[in-house]
Amino acid sequence: MNASLFSERLEHLLATVHSVTVLTGAGVSAESGVPTFRDPGGLWSQFRPEELANVDAFMRNPQLVWEWYTYRKRMISDVSPNPGHFALAEMEGFVGDFTLLTQNVDNLHQRAGSSDVVELHGNIHHRFCMDCGQDAVEIDGSERSVVPRCVSCGGLLRPGVVWFGEMLPGEQLRRASDAAARCQLFLSIGTSGEVYPAAQLPSLAREHGAYVVEINPRSSSIAHRMHECIEGVSGIVVPAMLEIMRRARRTA
Ligand code: APR
Repeated sequence: MNASLFSERLEHLLATVHSVTVLTGAGVSAESGVPTFRDPGGLWSQFRPEELANVDAFMRNPQLVWEWYTYRKRMISDVSPNPGHFALAEMEGFVGDFTLLTQNVDNLHQRAGSSDVVELHGNIHHRFCMDCGQDAVEIDGSERSVVPRCVSCGGLLRPGVVWFGEMLPGEQLRRASDAAARCQLFLSIGTSGEVYPAAQLPSLAREHGAYVVEINPRSSSIAHRMHECIEGVSGIVVPAMLEIMRRARRTA
């Protein structure tokens, strides 16, 4: 892999940076075999988000929504993290101030060894009660009913993910905004930049002086806000970035 994938400025930054914030989307899991949402053949071309990913749809037909999340959980448990996930987990050890923000609910960053991942859209393994709000432990497939109930109050349990029309978890959003505002380098990896407020974070970083870079085989909707766009897949580009960091730290 020749280093000319990156501008001289980015190469220098990768070799010297001490504060990096990364935002990932579904594209970072594509090479693991997890379909993205908006690419051709993606989840939203097969399924209707208005029937599956909002609270009204859930109240109308909780069984359908749970069946969909069970299908996605099975798909995710059958795949493994890819070199893009592993490189981000390793990058954490090379940068003093490293923050990984993700829109993904698939837990693949954590399975690759990333710690303290800021989950902006929740996690597919989490669930909580619609009535009492209590978090509920995920039980393995032995559950009798497709629609799990709260053990304390008997209320409907829902997947612990953020649905369309819902606010992001306050603490996660605060941490994400802080990390975007203080970093020297912001990497936006595998996201179409269609969903807010996550898609606002690269601009926030740029406004606070960070160098903002997109990694995506196709230009996203926010590509115009970047300093540099690298047209490539994360499973190749992120390991190449890591190699520059590794080399620089070896010779330092
Ligand atoms: N490496 C890098 N980027 C990739 C790769 C890859 N191997 N494969 C695809 N991509 C890019 C696509 O070009 C696209 O721009 O990943 C992006 C995926 O975009 P979306 O499917 O829109 O996913 P995302 O941006 O994460 O969606 C945001 O929308 O549906 C909701 O809650 C859901 O978190 C999700 C949010």
